[in-house]
Amino acid sequence: MRPTRPFRPLILAIAMALPLLSSPSLLAEESSIFSQMATAQPVWAKHGMVASQETLASRTGVEILKQGGNAVDAAVAVAFSLAVTLPRAGNIGGGGFMLVHIAKENKTIAIDYREMAPSKAKKDIFLDENGDAVEKLSREHGLAVGVPGTVMGMSLALEKYGTMTLAQVTAPAIKMAQEGISVTPDLAQSLAGLKRRMSQWPTTAAIFYKADGSDFQVDDILKQPELAHSLSLIAEKGTKGFYEGETATKLINAVKDAGGIMTLDDLKNYKVVEREPVRGEYRGYEVVSMPPPSSGGVHIIEMLNVLQQFPIDKLGHNTAQTIHLMAETMKHAYSDRSEYLGDPDFYKVPVKALTSKDYAQKIASQIAMNKTTPSAEIKPGKLAPYESDQTTHFSVVDKWGNAVSNTYTLNFSYGSGLVAKGTGILLNNEMDDFSAKPGVPNGYGLVGGDANAVEGNKRPLSSMSPTIVMKDGKPFLVTGSPGGSRIITTTLQIIMNVIDHGLNIAEASNAARVHHQWLPDELRVESSLNRDTISLLEAKGHKVKVQSAMGSTQSIMVTEQGIFGASDPRHSGSEAIGY
Ligand code: GLY
Repeated sequence: MRPTRPFRPLILAIAMALPLLSSPSLLAEESSIFSQMATAQPVWAKHGMVASQETLASRTGVEILKQGGNAVDAAVAVAFSLAVTLPRAGNIGGGGFMLVHIAKENKTIAIDYREMAPSKAKKDIFLDENGDAVEKLSREHGLAVGVPGTVMGMSLALEKYGTMTLAQVTAPAIKMAQEGISVTPDLAQSLAGLKRRMSQWPTTAAIFYKADGSDFQVDDILKQPELAHSLSLIAEKGTKGFYEGETATKLINAVKDAGGIMTLDDLKNYKVVEREPVRGEYRGYEVVSMPPPSSGGVHIIEMLNVLQQFPIDKLGHNTAQTIHLMAETMKHAYSDRSEYLGDPDFYKVPVKALTSKDYAQKIASQIAMNKTTPSAEIKPGKLAPYESDQTTHFSVVDKWGNAVSNTYTLNFSYGSGLVAKGTGILLNNEMDDFSAKPGVPNGYGLVGGDANAVEGNKRPLSSMSPTIVMKDGKPFLVTGSPGGSRIITTTLQIIMNVIDHGLNIAEASNAARVHHQWLPDELRVESSLNRDTISLLEAKGHKVKVQSAMGSTQSIMVTEQGIFGASDPRHSGSEAIGY
């Protein structure tokens, strides 16, 4: 294990170097300081920090911390704020996962507020009369919408682990929805890019495009008064303000008009589940992550167990040899995902076996150092991947040592694209995360079988992987990412970059990423990976595809020198803010 480098301030190093220029011996010493300097600097803070994909939401969270709120109060305020400021993924019409670490009790809880299938959902709902899967039904249709869990999840987290009221933590979001937010380049671009799916629903077009149908421009003001009203009902009435009464009726009418089968009872019966996190050990650190129905935690631990068999630090960061070992490991994990992962309330997921060190040794023994094993030899399949990665992650730590790692989503950007009339609420298309038919890929090119078949009241399998890495029993690294199928490998790389390669959290976030998901049999890499490495990987037999950036990690590292945060530079508008 290499020592991790939290921070090395540039100014300090320059100030130290100036008086030394005349002394050759000291110059030599200084050059070693410079050579140790980080290539990117994290944000530093003393008391608490929020890292999220949108600046206004990060600021809201930090304000709550400053007012004396704990990490959970801040996290819930961030979640409601993102529903207004990052509407493509922040939500109250979707669902997600939250890991909460409570320092005083030294316990970590996994809150599962994933959407549930409507009770009348059946295995074949996305198939046509020939038994073929119809993409539109699981993506842009009333049937695509799962029963939303976010409001119930946030309320439970706040009630059990927070200190503030729903009215307090929703107030900033209500204000921003009512008074409007200034349109950022990121928001303008994503709305313009997804106009086809969004504007097929008149209720959606009326909010997210101008009255004449044109796009919002940067610095225009986007107001969402109906969303402000829906949030106010939650502030006043708690979960009943969403799952019953006015909002519930409007949601069900919208889903039914769009061809769906969700009922008022489905909303009323929605349940949040508190689960035991999955845990693993990696080079002396404890990795705590989300259990099924997330596949993320299980496979991050499975992959780390395999990679621990190799001297990754000596092989080097993003060298062809290290990436080769990572890619081979990823293929095994994603092949297991297609077979064994699903909602644990419906299917017995072999978590213990998949996360055992023995199983990892078996996988490691099948990996050749210099030659890739084609995916077809691990398991056959033929797929076409789809590009979409909108989910969002945020991390929070407070001055008491509590931590929250939260990933939530509408599935695709803006979900189904459907806003329920009169609510301002965008509805998810999470039902596409089920396996519509064995072997048929979902929106992320992922395949599945019976374990993840559609069933009433079941939760679709997810890749969302909110994670907390513990050192000596305390949160050390709080992290996670959006990115569909790439969430798991992106989170894995943050952990490895810090633990194996000793990068600080900004360097770990900025470094070029790679991804293999078994099928399709290709190693996806970011364009910043150097050409020499790509050539060496190709020589080992990898089909390397240089594609767009992956993930948007929001990470916080807690060290003796303070709290260090980094928002992924891959998306503009992200910010880690501390105080
Ligand atoms: N909707 C993406 C995921 O849950 O993995």
